[in-house]
Amino acid sequence: MITTRPRGTADILPEEAGRWRFVEDTFRRICREYNYREIRTPVFEHTELFERGVGDTTDIVEKEMYTFRDRGDRSVSLRPEGTAPVVRAYLESNLHSGPQPVKLYYTGAMFRYDKPQAGRYRQFHQLGVEALGSSHPALDAEMIAMIMDFYGRLGLKGLELHINSVGCPRCRLALKDELQNYLRPHAGELCINCKNRLERNPLRVLDCKEKNCDRIAVNAPTTLDCLCPDCGDHFDAVKEYLDRLGVVYQVDGRLVRGLDYYTHTAFEVMSTDIGSQSSIGGGGRYNGLVEACGGPPAPGVGFALGIERILLAMKGRGAYFPAGDRPDVFVVSADAECEKDAFDLLFALRKCGLGADMDYMGRSLKAQMKFAGKTGCRFVVILGGDELKRGSASVKDMTNGSQIELPLKGLAEEIKKLIGGN
Ligand code: HAM
Repeated sequence: MITTRPRGTADILPEEAGRWRFVEDTFRRICREYNYREIRTPVFEHTELFERGVGDTTDIVEKEMYTFRDRGDRSVSLRPEGTAPVVRAYLESNLHSGPQPVKLYYTGAMFRYDKPQAGRYRQFHQLGVEALGSSHPALDAEMIAMIMDFYGRLGLKGLELHINSVGCPRCRLALKDELQNYLRPHAGELCINCKNRLERNPLRVLDCKEKNCDRIAVNAPTTLDCLCPDCGDHFDAVKEYLDRLGVVYQVDGRLVRGLDYYTHTAFEVMSTDIGSQSSIGGGGRYNGLVEACGGPPAPGVGFALGIERILLAMKGRGAYFPAGDRPDVFVVSADAECEKDAFDLLFALRKCGLGADMDYMGRSLKAQMKFAGKTGCRFVVILGGDELKRGSASVKDMTNGSQIELPLKGLAEEIKKLIGGN
C-alpha cells in the first residue's frame, strides 16, 4: 500500500516535470502579454462554495467532490475547479470595489472523484484565467483567442474549437420548458442519469455522451433556439470579434458544459489525438456567479485547461519540448587527493550562477566520466594531480569531445563565457 500512489494520481518525475514547466512557463508568458495577474487560492474551501457556485445538480458536486469534515466539524472540499474560489477571493479581498475588470490567472491541482482513465485523473492540474467585472463581448473573444494562441505556441494542431451561447437565466427558462416538452415522450429511452436530469436540469441531456441520449438530443431544441435579443446580440458580437482575429470556430448549440454557472458564451477545445477525454480546455461567461456567491451583481468570464491532456495532445503530435534540467558542469576528480579541490571548485562554479555537480559515490575516474555523460552536462572539468600542480584543470566540451587546459583561477567565469557564447 505505502509504495503505491492513490488511484487517479501521478508522480511527475524529473524528465516529465521539465515538460510541465515548459507548458506552465508558456502559459505565464502569455498571461503577462494579455495582462492577467497571478492569484493563488487554497486547495480546499468550504463545501458550500462549490454547492452554490458550481451547482448542486452537477456531476461534479453530486458525485465527484472530495468532501470531508475537518477536526472542527466543518464540511470542506478539495477544490474541483478554480472559478468559484477565484470569485470568493474577489469578494473577500474587495477586488470588486477597485478598477474593473480584474484579470487573474492561476495554475494548480484540482480534485474530482471520477473513474480514472487515459486523460482523466482524480488529481489533475489546470491553467486557468478569470476576468471579473466586465460584460464586454470583446473579453469573451480575447479569452478564446488567448487559448488558441497558447495552443499554437505549444505546437498543437488539429484542434476543434466549439462555441455556443447558453443565454441568460430567462433564455434558459424558456429552453428548459421546450426541452422538457421535447424530451418527456422519450423519457423511457434516456439513460438513468438523464432520466433524473429531465426534471431538475434538462440542459445536461444535450451533451450526454450515452448513445441513446445523443441520438435523441440531435433533434432537441438547443440553447440557440431560445436566445433573447440581448443574448443573441452578445453572441453575434463575440463571433464578430473572433472573425476579426481570424479565429476558426464551430458553433455548437448543444455545448452546455458541465458546470451550472455559465451564462452567454460557452466554449470548449477538443483534441482529436487523445481519445475519449478529448476536451483539452473550456470555459465561458458566468454573469450570475458573483451574486450567487453573495456579492453584488458582477459579470465574469474565464477558462481552464487541463495540463495532463495538453501534454498528451502534444506528445500525440510529436510537439517540441525543450531539454530537461541538466548541469552546466560536472567536476571529476582523477584521484581521491583532488576531491577537496573539486569540492571547492564546485562551489565557485555555483557562485558564478552555473549549475554544477560532482560524484558523491566514490566512483573511479572512468565511472565518473560515464556518469557525467549521463547527466547531460555541457562541460566536464577534470582535476588531476599534475594539472593541479600547474594551477589548471582540463575542460572537456561534451558537445564535440574537445578538451583544453585552463587556469583554475577564473575558471568559472571562463566556462560561463564559453556557455554564453553558444
Ligand atoms: P472544466 O471543463 O470542468 O471547466 O475543466 C477544464 C479542463 O480541465 C477540461 O477541459 C480538461 O482539460 C481538464 N479536466 C477536467 N477534469 C479533468 C480530469 N478529471 N482529469 C484531467 N483533466 C481534467 C472548469 O473547470 C471551469 N472552472 C473552467 C472555467 C473557468 N470556466 C470559467 N472559468
